[in-house]
Amino acid sequence: MAVSQAAHAERPDRRRPATDSAGRSAGRSAGRPAGRAAGHRDPATEAVHEPAHSSVPSPFLDPAAMRVRYRREGLHEQGLAPDPVRQFARWFAEAAESGIHEPNAMILATADASGRPTARTVLLKGFDERGLVFFTNYRSRKGRDIDANPAVSLVFPWHAIARQVIVQGRAERTGRDETAAYFRTRPHGSQLGAWASEQSEVVASREELDRMYAELARRYPEGEDVPAPPHWGGYRVVPEEVEFWQGRENRLHDRLRYTRRPGGGDPTAWRIERLSP
Ligand SMILES: Cc1cc2nc3c(=O)[nH]c(=O)nc-3n(C[C@H](O)[C@H](O)[C@H](O)COP(=O)(O)O)c2cc1C
Repeated sequence: MAVSQAAHAERPDRRRPATDSAGRSAGRSAGRPAGRAAGHRDPATEAVHEPAHSSVPSPFLDPAAMRVRYRREGLHEQGLAPDPVRQFARWFAEAAESGIHEPNAMILATADASGRPTARTVLLKGFDERGLVFFTNYRSRKGRDIDANPAVSLVFPWHAIARQVIVQGRAERTGRDETAAYFRTRPHGSQLGAWASEQSEVVASREELDRMYAELARRYPEGEDVPAPPHWGGYRVVPEEVEFWQGRENRLHDRLRYTRRPGGGDPTAWRIERLSP
């Protein structure tokens, strides 16, 4: 949102007509023209959702016309936890309390050996001072990427509360004990699914997938112990940088970044810097 608005403000789209359908000037609509109706206020973030006035005749919903003015209180250096894990723990709890759907859903970006990136959603299943853990198929595309290049990034996109957390770090496999302990907590159907799916490979049809699952369900009926597949397990993302982003008014967002000081180990060894929004 911020990016599209900034781009719009700095490089006016020449394809846009000078006025929108309601006769307002496209240039003025980036601000708040006098007399324009205020948008609705979101009590969770105190953000104001401005009414979308699209000036582009298009059969699609125009994302450039969507604007949210963030009003939420700021993020200050003095209020920050000394290390990003404790800061993350606070924000994660607040995200959960806010009622966000799946606050543990995070975007994982990986890059292959040639640097070609891909991103997808995974679920955070644990975190502590060692890092953030998710589970997946080691033979999947992300697994192969990480084998070749363990540098990854995570994004928690908590849009509903005008926050995001970005982690940059290195992914390492969790121990088999940790994987087995987590696998035992999964519902029986998900355990079978981990065996049935050759994640990221082409599958001939939905029927083929269902057939593999049914075969496994016959072999391991409900109640029977299902071992964790050897090609399935956890990754721990060991953070090197963690940025906390808080949406503020006039796009002057707060960005506070923790960077691990060389030497590692000591949880207090983090440098904190403010970044320009
Ligand atoms: C909300 C949500 C949560 C997901 N959680 C996981 C997860 O924890 N682990 C996983 O392997 N895939 C998860 N997926 C599926 C992945 O996004 C992705 O499709 C899959 O891991 C294959 O990715 P890859 O081919 O890039 O390796 C999730 C998808 C969504 C939308």
